[in-house]
Amino acid sequence: MGTRKNQATLTANEKARFVAAVLQLKANGRYDLYVRQHRDLFDANIHRTAWFFPWHREFLLRLERDLQAIDPTVTLPYWDWTIDRLPSASPWADDFMGGNGVPAGGAVQSGPFAFRNGRWTLNVRDNPADPIELERALGSGGPLPTADTVRNFLARVPYSNFRSGLEISVHNIVHVWIGGSAAMASSPNDPAFFLLHCNVDRLWAQWQALHPGETAYQSDGAGRGLNDPMLPWNNEVNPPTPARVLDHTALGYTYDTDVVVDPPVDLTVGAPPTQASIGQPGELDWYRFVVPAAGGFTIETQGPTDVFMSLFGPNSQTALVTEDDDTGQDVNARIESNLSAGTYFVRIRHFQTAGAGSYGISVIGAAVPIPEIPVNGPAVQGNIAAANESDMYTFTAGVTATYTMETAGNTDTFLTLLGPNSQTAFITQDDDSGPGSNSRIVRALMPGAYFLRVRHYSATGTGPYSIFVRR
Ligand code: CU
Ligand code: CU
Repeated sequence: MGTRKNQATLTANEKARFVAAVLQLKANGRYDLYVRQHRDLFDANIHRTAWFFPWHREFLLRLERDLQAIDPTVTLPYWDWTIDRLPSASPWADDFMGGNGVPAGGAVQSGPFAFRNGRWTLNVRDNPADPIELERALGSGGPLPTADTVRNFLARVPYSNFRSGLEISVHNIVHVWIGGSAAMASSPNDPAFFLLHCNVDRLWAQWQALHPGETAYQSDGAGRGLNDPMLPWNNEVNPPTPARVLDHTALGYTYDTDVVVDPPVDLTVGAPPTQASIGQPGELDWYRFVVPAAGGFTIETQGPTDVFMSLFGPNSQTALVTEDDDTGQDVNARIESNLSAGTYFVRIRHFQTAGAGSYGISVIGAAVPIPEIPVNGPAVQGNIAAANESDMYTFTAGVTATYTMETAGNTDTFLTLLGPNSQTAFITQDDDSGPGSNSRIVRALMPGAYFLRVRHYSATGTGPYSIFVRR
């Protein structure tokens, strides 16, 4: 439950509460249960397999709940080692994780988890002969992974490729960088384990947000299917499975870096560009605009950012119409499409998963000439080509008289009369007054320009028809 924050942003009070809860969990014996589970399962598929992310997520969640039973304000902090990279950085302060081993690789001498301060004995060890003091060798095992390295692995797909890269070439290196107790199977003996793994968990969530089309988990062997129970909890009544931990927000916690998906912003056809930005890598911006009648539309971005555009609709945020990267000016996106009437959705992301930047977006409707129906002339042929499409016609009433407006053919048309001299002023409408399922409007009209809108009676219907006007 709650928001997991970057450890560097914690207040002194938040750090003190976290440390106090960990010390209490240690004092009541429960902390060592976690050390034992991790040690005993170290080579039982929780590492170097697909289980790596879901297993450690469940493991952290259980410890966090235990800490919250002691102090409900506590959440697990994460350590972003791409920022706090030195042995003197914030995690290793004496009011938090404490300092390095003295000498490097030896026992930690300062902070709440130093053996000499009396509250932290390593009761569960890889070998009985191993030391009972928490040991560290900060930085002795080579440099920490950089932000570029992490970005490269975040861009990897599919899941199996991301998992192996992040686990082996990032996570393992951080364990080795801390060294000492954190580099062993019983590594949760160092509470920094949980800060390290909280960041690993955050990166899995970030990878999911960056690749919404990718499967969030792929089985890589018998017993590690999406719905297989995970050890050592497999005998529980409702055991955790990879499927049950895929969505961290559904488990009741978030990260202070989680990207919030906002509701769509409305765009007006023909209005000046709306200014926006991809504020964080992975952000998706959504827009919505209304097509009142079928026509040609151009959706376009402006500015220096390489955005990628996807168009969905009509009346659906998932039915893809088309996508574009660079058809616009420079690296901008542009979609030109004939659209039937309805509401459309536009999704904008950065072309690169790690990219960000500002842009503008606009929609214009290309002027579509409205066909004229000659009064007492031949019928005009029309076609409802796509679902939700409406066709617009105009005719001129030269004198005050009674006019008959009618469709013909086998399509169930629906006719609306608008005017005079307005495409939106409603006069009347008709479904089936004509022969068969055709429409017929008989009406006395004053001189002026009138408009007829033809659509299918059914929202999904299509078909050809003809239309004529008699006086
Ligand atoms: Cu582990
Ligand atoms: Cu680990």
